[in-house]
Amino acid sequence: MIKAVIFDLDGVIVTTDDCHYRAWKQMADGEGIYFDRKINERLRGVSRMESLEIILERADRKYSQEEKEALAYKKNEIYKKLISELTERDVLPGVKEFLSECKSRHILTAIGSSSKNAKPILERIGMFSEFDAVVDGNDISKSKPDPEVFVKAAQRLGVERENCLVVEDACAGVDAGLNGGMRVLAVGSAAEYERATYSANSLEDKECFKLIFQQ
Ligand code: BG6
Ligand code: MG
Repeated sequence: MIKAVIFDLDGVIVTTDDCHYRAWKQMADGEGIYFDRKINERLRGVSRMESLEIILERADRKYSQEEKEALAYKKNEIYKKLISELTERDVLPGVKEFLSECKSRHILTAIGSSSKNAKPILERIGMFSEFDAVVDGNDISKSKPDPEVFVKAAQRLGVERENCLVVEDACAGVDAGLNGGMRVLAVGSAAEYERATYSANSLEDKECFKLIFQQ
């Protein structure tokens, strides 16, 4: 029985996955490093510094730790500018309805995000108080596919892992949920990932909701 749903943020609740791409692209172009949307898929769910390492695989020279920190800082400054323009309209289709369905069934909800920008984003889209717990990149030391972020969210909610459903758009996030002993609904970019317990193109998929909760 599912007693709690733990949502990833970027690409599940809000369109910020595209803001991450645009900010990294601007940083990579500035350095003359090739970067495209296919490479960007590997960054989903992955921490800022680990994302940078993936981008630097295409660089034609080695970067010092200091340079890497400067590049990550630059990306985050571009990203913060992009997210300062977010509004409620950037909430992904089906999210609000899915949340109300959870609430009407007394299912607890949480955010489990790798991002250190999760809280300001939730504030901007007016959804901070919609969740019973928010665990983000500031609370964890291990990135997805490690289950730390979801395990902490389950603990904060006081719900056993086997009673939690994770919603993810990243393969690394799907693995994190499964590694934590939870069921996982894969949406968007991860919808084709065969390890997921359930799949849907988006949270608008009502049939998927019925399949998960009416058992
Ligand atoms: C995840 C995103 O939610 O957060 C990744 O999917 C991102 O793309 C990661 O790198 C860390 O985000 P931030 O905001 O702390 O740089
Ligand atoms: Mg995501």
